Amino acid sequence: MKVFATFIAAALPVVVVAFEHSTTTAQIRLAYHGQHGMTVSWNTFQHIQHPKVRWGLSEDNLNNTASSNLSITYPTSTTYSNHVLISGLAPDTTYYYMPSPLSIKCKDAKKQRPYSFRTSRRAGDKAPLSVAVAVDLGTMGSLGLGTTAGSGVSPNNVLKPGEKNTIDSLASSLSKYEFLWHPGDMAYADYWLKEEIQGYLPNTTIEEGYKVYESILNEFYDEMMAVTATKPYMVGPGNHEANCDNGGTADKAHNITYTSAICSPGQTNFTGYKNHFAMPSDVSGGTGNFWYSFDNGLVHFIQLDTETDLGHGFIGPDEAGGSGGIGADPVNATMDAQTTWLQADLAAVDRSKTPWIVVAGHRPLYLSHANDSTFCSPCHEIFEPLFAQYDVDLYLSGHAHVYERLAPLGQHGVVDPAELNNPRSTWYITNGAAGHYDGLDALQSPRQPYSRFGLDTNDAVYGWSLLTFHNSTHLTHEFIASNNNTVLDSATLYKAHK
Ligand SMILES: *[C@@H]1O[C@H](CO)[C@@H](O)[C@H](O)[C@H]1NC(C)=O
Ligand SMILES: *[C@@H]1O[C@H](CO)[C@@H](O)[C@H](O)[C@H]1NC(C)=O
Ligand SMILES: *[C@@H]1O[C@H](CO)[C@@H](O)[C@H](O)[C@H]1NC(C)=O
Ligand SMILES: *[C@@H]1O[C@H](CO)[C@@H](O)[C@H](O)[C@H]1NC(C)=O
Ligand SMILES: *[C@@H]1O[C@H](CO)[C@@H](O)[C@H](O)[C@H]1NC(C)=O
Ligand SMILES: *[C@@H]1O[C@H](CO)[C@@H](O)[C@H](O)[C@H]1NC(C)=O
Ligand SMILES: *[C@@H]1O[C@H](CO)[C@@H](O)[C@H](O)[C@H]1NC(C)=O
Ligand SMILES: *[C@@H]1O[C@H](CO)[C@@H](O)[C@H](O)[C@H]1NC(C)=O
Ligand SMILES: *[C@@H]1O[C@H](CO)[C@@H](O)[C@H](O)[C@H]1NC(C)=O
Ligand SMILES: [Fe+2]
Repeated sequence: MKVFATFIAAALPVVVVAFEHSTTTAQIRLAYHGQHGMTVSWNTFQHIQHPKVRWGLSEDNLNNTASSNLSITYPTSTTYSNHVLISGLAPDTTYYYMPSPLSIKCKDAKKQRPYSFRTSRRAGDKAPLSVAVAVDLGTMGSLGLGTTAGSGVSPNNVLKPGEKNTIDSLASSLSKYEFLWHPGDMAYADYWLKEEIQGYLPNTTIEEGYKVYESILNEFYDEMMAVTATKPYMVGPGNHEANCDNGGTADKAHNITYTSAICSPGQTNFTGYKNHFAMPSDVSGGTGNFWYSFDNGLVHFIQLDTETDLGHGFIGPDEAGGSGGIGADPVNATMDAQTTWLQADLAAVDRSKTPWIVVAGHRPLYLSHANDSTFCSPCHEIFEPLFAQYDVDLYLSGHAHVYERLAPLGQHGVVDPAELNNPRSTWYITNGAAGHYDGLDALQSPRQPYSRFGLDTNDAVYGWSLLTFHNSTHLTHEFIASNNNTVLDSATLYKAHK
């Protein structure tokens, strides 16, 4: 690798650039931990012996303290991820909190008011519930999606001057949803090399590339704080979390194709993703930040991993030998751990409390797209029969940077004749249009017979999904255009849930 890297450094015209990390960072991210807990995660430049969160019921009285020993990092990271679980909280209650220490300037820390969050509703709480979902959401601004881009990005897909991006939109809509769900592809730090080759970011050497990668990650989590310091941020794994150059990046001008061999150990095997998050798999029997479930009000939410650990003899797309050229290891050594867990998790759902079951995975099962590795093809065999057996209401995905709402579909993509009026099959929606450096993708033309509404690169609209569970029988999905927060598509599913 050393020899290879030296060769590249010689081949690339090197303009050395300071990718020094900024002097402040906070990156505060919340995550539900059951209905009585909240995990507060944040990043600091230093290792913290005992990260602490002061918290309380009023802004002026943070009279409780939670702490942990979890201040973790990895080779090449410029920060430490601190994780503190606050337990013993009441459901559906607003609390105020302040993590410490924070890597922000002292004068800013002094004037900083406490943050706040609201705990999950009890399972069975019948109040209407709204949830924001964004997939394929990258860093915004000069390191990612901005008003200019490098060569190779559709000029139609850069932001227009003054156009609001999806992070802006989510941050200006905090009163509209309880939590944000992001099933994979965040930051797109692994685009650092592509952005350099395309002339968007200044060139560095391959050896120095990790600094650019880490600066993109830090920037993303800081940008997201406008949402994630207030709203729980529930995440799942996507391919862009898996390695440093998306499994390979070509520099056509110099006839060099980089492989994942240039990635340093800190940037493979989902290392940053494992470090940054603390999803509630310990209280749902799942595995790390990869698959887990949680209840909130009328809904049982399930996050799946379409990237690794498909089991049953299938190689996950991000695993060694998989389609992505990424070479990650499986995350659980138990044979067929994910589907075994999914079956048990679905079997244990009490539909009298949580009539709705919503599943998210990064890759789609159905989409108006050529049948290639965009899909989780093995999912048809390993997950879909379980969706049918346990009457999963909705499957959400992204990965393709498009929006497409399908009909409820039985196995092999057979349209349920009931459509949205009490179908017996699962409804499928892909919304990978949140926005990242590379813009949007195209839907196949003509669209599949099961397609009901779509937006793609030609529409050049970025957006996110708002799910509203009105009661035990009605669920509305809306596509919100990030630019102006208007609803460009709305559909309501009726399920009798007898
Ligand atoms: C914190 O203050 C609340 C009143 O706001 C009180 O009920 C609670 O017992 C206090 N907790 C501690 C640990 O003192
Ligand atoms: C931190 O670790 C020490 C010993 O390793 C232990 O005594 C202490 O209880 C731990 N603190 C927390 C908050 O887990
Ligand atoms: C970076 O290097 C690429 C070739 O690998 C070149 O095409 C590009 O113009 C360079 N960008 C800058 C900002 O120097
Ligand atoms: C590009 O490199 C490959 C080997 O890596 C070589 O076979 C090919 O001829 C090169 N193409 C050009 C146009 O130089
Ligand atoms: C792997 O899955 C098994 C069975 O679901 C579970 O008990 C175990 O905790 C998982 N391992 C990890 C590392 O999460
Ligand atoms: C992933 O981690 C394993 C060890 O757990 C290692 O053998 C493998 O080489 C790593 N993959 C990459 C691409 O670094
Ligand atoms: C799509 O491709 C996968 C393998 O890549 C194959 O197993 C499957 O049968 C194909 N599906 C269709 C509908 O052709
Ligand atoms: C459930 O919500 C829908 C949409 O708001 C409404 O039309 C319907 O009447 C509600 N059902 C009940 C039983 O309240
Ligand atoms: C909102 O923005 C979308 C996408 O840019 C556009 O199609 C729509 O017409 C706009 N609606 C309003 C009311 O401005
Ligand atoms: Fe993806």
